[in-house]
Amino acid sequence: MSNIGSYEEKYKTFKWEQAEEELEYGKNGIYNIGYYCSDRICEKGSANKLALIWEGFTGGVKNFTYNDIRVYSNTIAKFLQDNGVNMGDRVCLFMDKVPELYLGFIGILKMGGIAQPLFSAFGEEALFTRLDDAKTKAIITQKKHLGKVRRIKDKLPELTKIIIVDADDTTPQVNEIHFCMEKSEKVDKFDIVKVGPEVPSVLHYTSGTTGKPKGAQHVHSSIIAQYITSKWVLDLQPDDIYWCTADPGWVTGTSYGIIGPWANGVTQVVLDAGFGTEKWYAFIQKYKVTMWYSAPTAIRLLMKEGLDVVKKFDLTSLRHLASVGEPLNAEAVIWSEKAFGKPFYDTYWQTETGAIVITNFPGMKIKPGSMGKPFPGIAATVVNPKTYEPIETPGTVGLIALKPGWPSMMRTYWNNKETYNGKFKNGWYICGDRSSIDNEGYFWFVGRDDDVINTAGHLVGPFEIESALLEHKAVAESAAIGKPDPVNMEVVKAFIALKPGFEPSGDLELDIMNFIRKKLSPLAMPQEIEFVPSLPKTRSGKIMRRLLRAKEWGEEIGDISTLEND
Ligand code: WT7
Repeated sequence: MSNIGSYEEKYKTFKWEQAEEELEYGKNGIYNIGYYCSDRICEKGSANKLALIWEGFTGGVKNFTYNDIRVYSNTIAKFLQDNGVNMGDRVCLFMDKVPELYLGFIGILKMGGIAQPLFSAFGEEALFTRLDDAKTKAIITQKKHLGKVRRIKDKLPELTKIIIVDADDTTPQVNEIHFCMEKSEKVDKFDIVKVGPEVPSVLHYTSGTTGKPKGAQHVHSSIIAQYITSKWVLDLQPDDIYWCTADPGWVTGTSYGIIGPWANGVTQVVLDAGFGTEKWYAFIQKYKVTMWYSAPTAIRLLMKEGLDVVKKFDLTSLRHLASVGEPLNAEAVIWSEKAFGKPFYDTYWQTETGAIVITNFPGMKIKPGSMGKPFPGIAATVVNPKTYEPIETPGTVGLIALKPGWPSMMRTYWNNKETYNGKFKNGWYICGDRSSIDNEGYFWFVGRDDDVINTAGHLVGPFEIESALLEHKAVAESAAIGKPDPVNMEVVKAFIALKPGFEPSGDLELDIMNFIRKKLSPLAMPQEIEFVPSLPKTRSGKIMRRLLRAKEWGEEIGDISTLEND
């Protein structure tokens, strides 16, 4: 029996207060996420239960019980306090998927700081933009990523604590501090900082079409939604071995790679290594993973390797599978039934929503290719893109819209209230995606409503790529779009108009690629550059990426009445 039981029933009766009560959220005036992910689980009698089984890329394994999570996060929290980090300060986590990342996250929250996780593969410019925007005070990192931090730290006056978790005996430079979690004196008792439910907890950066990346700011009470969605959608149960493949640099890796599973007191496994079909199957087999939360790009890669390799492993421990980040093709759902004897359940949400909002539930009929239905407590619909009125006719495409008010909704974009306010129309939060709803209430994703590129489940803003390109001496204008790709759904393609005196050539293309490589994260790197004489623009001078995109996708071009050169 699944945790949610009857979806229809729950959708009718559920109130967020019920989840709050179940979690005992706010008891004794405690609202801090850190407490609910460690101390509370220990108090409930699971201090010796494994919370984290971690395997490194060279095969080393480390186990952490809930008591270890409690004590190590205390230790980190105290260390931060002792070093002058205060409540409300932004503390960036810039690490591979090492244990210090997971425990550091809880430690930051326990001392009232705002955790700002960033993907460790980010290049120095991507890192700089986000630290500069958040005026980050401290960064916790590894030796291997220190070079990037050192190259930008002089431009970041607020960044005064650079904490290195695996430093050797070398002398630290100015503002650098060495911290070894396992060798530090353990802090058994720590006064978890009292926060209200609306106090900021996590700052996750996400890309938009224009301007700098935006920091979606979440608060401590987000845990109410992360707790209950983990329980009902991921169906986490006491004996589960849960594997979320996402990196905590992205919201999936925190909401469902830290907060959700630990608030539910389950054992999770982490593999600090990249993708590999056999490696992944062997990992599932070794730890007898029961619940697996992954992404369409990974599933498509597994599909490419075929069914024979699946048969080499014993994967019968798997009980439930779910996916997020991009449209999950119907073929992937059908293939997974053949490969693992069960489908992947598609889940839909965003950095901004903090938790799953539209999804398939265990026990509910799956329609392959559909994202499923709204989570109980979430009113979701599609609205007309001009009037923002809900569309009543089934099958009509509109903008996905959610009634604000669920606990894990972002409270603002950091320092950017205006853009935040712009996301609300006619009383709805507009997600920026297009979908239709069928006559049984299932949502069918159509595409994004903006120019953001979704490559392998990661959102890449065209603005960041174009800005990097424009810094090259030969580039006059540029536009970045997503072009279709069988595995990653989209890859980045850049169009470039050259300055007078420069001619298109393979050498120039290579030179431009090398130039931007150190500025961008590997995900944002264009796979292809096309030189064009000029870019299509609206009369007001905005680049019409939609037009370039339509050509790549072989789609109808649509309304071009505002085109400059018509
Ligand atoms: C955007 C949000 C939320 C975790 C990871 C992404 C796309 C997300 C689905 C899905 C089709 C999806 C949307 C959304 N997206 N899930 N199941 N089907 N598209 O978080 O980086 O904030 O991206 O990812 O376009 O708006 P994110």
